Amino acid sequence: MDATARLLHLRRGGTSLVLRLDDDVLPAVLHWGPDLGEGDVTGMLTALAVPVGDSVATAAPVVSVLPQQSSGWLGRPGLLGSRAGQAWSVAFDHVEHELDEAGTAAWPDGASGAVRLRSVGTDGPDALTVTTELELHPSGLVRLRAAVRNDGADGYEVRALEPALPVPAEAGELLDLTGRYSHERSPQRRPFDQGTWVRESWGGRPGHDSATVLCAGRPSFGFRAGRVWGVHLAWSGNGAVAAEQLPSGWRLLRGGELLLPGEVRLASGEQYTSPWLVGSWGEGLDALAARIHRTWRARPTHPRTPRPVLLNTWEAVYFDHDLPHLLDLADKAAALGVERFVLDDGWFRGRRHDRAGLGDWEVDPDVWPQGLAPLADRVHALGMQFGLWFEPEMVNLDSDVARAHPDWVLGTSHGPGLPSRQQHVLDLGHPDAYAHVRDRMVAVIAGTGVDYLKWDHNRPLLDAGHGPDRTPGVHAQTLAAYRLMDELKGRFPGLEIESCAAGGARVDLGVMDRCDRVWVSDCIDAHERQRLQRWTSLLLPPEMLGTHIGADKDHSTGRVLDLTYRAGTALWGHLGIEWDLSATSAEQLAALAGWVRLHKELRPLLHSGDVVHADPTNPALWLEGVVAPDRSEAVYRLAAVEHTLTWPPGRVTLPGLDPDRRYEVQVLPPAVPVGQVLPGWVRDGVELPGRVLGTVGLAAPLLDPDMLVLLRVRAVEG
Ligand code: DGJ
Repeated sequence: MDATARLLHLRRGGTSLVLRLDDDVLPAVLHWGPDLGEGDVTGMLTALAVPVGDSVATAAPVVSVLPQQSSGWLGRPGLLGSRAGQAWSVAFDHVEHELDEAGTAAWPDGASGAVRLRSVGTDGPDALTVTTELELHPSGLVRLRAAVRNDGADGYEVRALEPALPVPAEAGELLDLTGRYSHERSPQRRPFDQGTWVRESWGGRPGHDSATVLCAGRPSFGFRAGRVWGVHLAWSGNGAVAAEQLPSGWRLLRGGELLLPGEVRLASGEQYTSPWLVGSWGEGLDALAARIHRTWRARPTHPRTPRPVLLNTWEAVYFDHDLPHLLDLADKAAALGVERFVLDDGWFRGRRHDRAGLGDWEVDPDVWPQGLAPLADRVHALGMQFGLWFEPEMVNLDSDVARAHPDWVLGTSHGPGLPSRQQHVLDLGHPDAYAHVRDRMVAVIAGTGVDYLKWDHNRPLLDAGHGPDRTPGVHAQTLAAYRLMDELKGRFPGLEIESCAAGGARVDLGVMDRCDRVWVSDCIDAHERQRLQRWTSLLLPPEMLGTHIGADKDHSTGRVLDLTYRAGTALWGHLGIEWDLSATSAEQLAALAGWVRLHKELRPLLHSGDVVHADPTNPALWLEGVVAPDRSEAVYRLAAVEHTLTWPPGRVTLPGLDPDRRYEVQVLPPAVPVGQVLPGWVRDGVELPGRVLGTVGLAAPLLDPDMLVLLRVRAVEG
């Protein structure tokens, strides 16, 4: 291996990726992290050659992005599979590396500016071809995937295909997210010890407990400091991310689809491709997230029009669809400045509760005798877009479609499996079931003039067997859901989709490559939303996060919070209202209109800037901001998330500003705390250099739990 090794140094967006290229091994990462500059780094091949110890392979292992036993890797192999017990350890006669520097790779219909290395390894004796694709984007983000093709005459079963990226020994601490329904994205930390920390999703979606981004960094890394690396699996089906450390010192972050037994059997000439593993790093989590956000925003399909403020009917009316009430909601919403009206669950045949109707995608004539037109037309006449809820992958057994086609319901030889929310999963891998759902959706979208879909997914895929033989169907189901989204978007240009899965159980870059917004959680309580939004934005930029203002008394927690806290928290993402405006006082409506106006004023900044967080010195005070890319302006939210132990609570710094510019700081009027003695700067504003605001900070006002202030910061020219 040594004789042929070459070195490739790729540099983009402050990231260097140094790769060792051999003629018989897939690329091996020697460095992934800070830019190493222009100098010749070929000596790294010699400098990093590791001594060979006892009782290991007698050659130094070359740990590629798809590590294999054949090149000395003693951990979990990147490819597991076999041809009935044969061909289970891949080794290459030859690997061809091809570099595409034109920057046209990555997005299907546009230049991404990314450089791509494609490496194709051929294993003649085992009749396999394995390909890896490694991209470095202008943001400094890395994307990696692998594919295996069966060149033999007999079938080859893929058990796992998990690309990996190494991190250095300084990455001694792990962080990922977990949660449950209505309580997603709760951070958890642990030492990165020897062994493997694996986060798996077996429910046909990432799940409420999704790791989202698995990070490894210098112990105690925070938002602003501490070098940290992270991986995310851009896939909406079963999947795993893992952090593995071997006694040899290797630390890998890896990820791939979890395949059920027999799920992917490649016939001769067929190929399986893994989902993309997205890798980012930064000096602190903000810099890691910024690389993901920048890459995502650079896609040609990223939503670029101002994100319409929406009203969603779910917590306003639930299943109680009453036209006069909904028309009143639409009128009141339009008067507030709402731009999109979304009719949630309950509009289709038999859907008076959550026990029936799913799958029968026709407007219920009993509830909507004239169809949806009276509502949709009024919404359009009021200048708003009309959005509609669907759950295309799901079915109630109490539905006409399930009665007529029991074979379209995923299941095993034991039946369709346990219900969840009284529902089961329609087999979109079945061509007729797929065509049925697509045609019904097309008819409703075209017939009603639907501009926006809220696409829900409330049941995990338990016992998801497909077809008469009940073969594992999660992989095919995931691809079919993607195909359906792509097909509908292709057929209805401008149609937008919100990804929802009982709240935030499907938050991943696979689905979000097709969707324009994600429903962060069914919990709208602003107290919980502080955490939910903070950690969801580790992956997604604010314009993709559905953030709603709910009723005074939250429906999921019963917590009562004032409008300033609810709206000042929801302001931060793609704003919506989910509250029965018919039962809301004129005074509250006027205040709400003010918040909608403020959001519209701030949204060009909120939806294009860099997300920053202060590392709290007082754990009760969370400061989050969005800073314009040219650092000419910023907006910050200072929230008290619990009781502070010191009183007054101390200073808060404003991260992300240009240290060499002067800034004027003003508190935005709707968020001035009442009944408190305010520091002078809260009343009168203050002007200071960015260096002072970012290093010394400001004296925090006296904030009790669930109070916040919003700060508007503008550079002072001259
Ligand atoms: C779960 C979603 O998260 C809610 O927002 C709502 O759409 C309900 N499903 C409707 O059934």
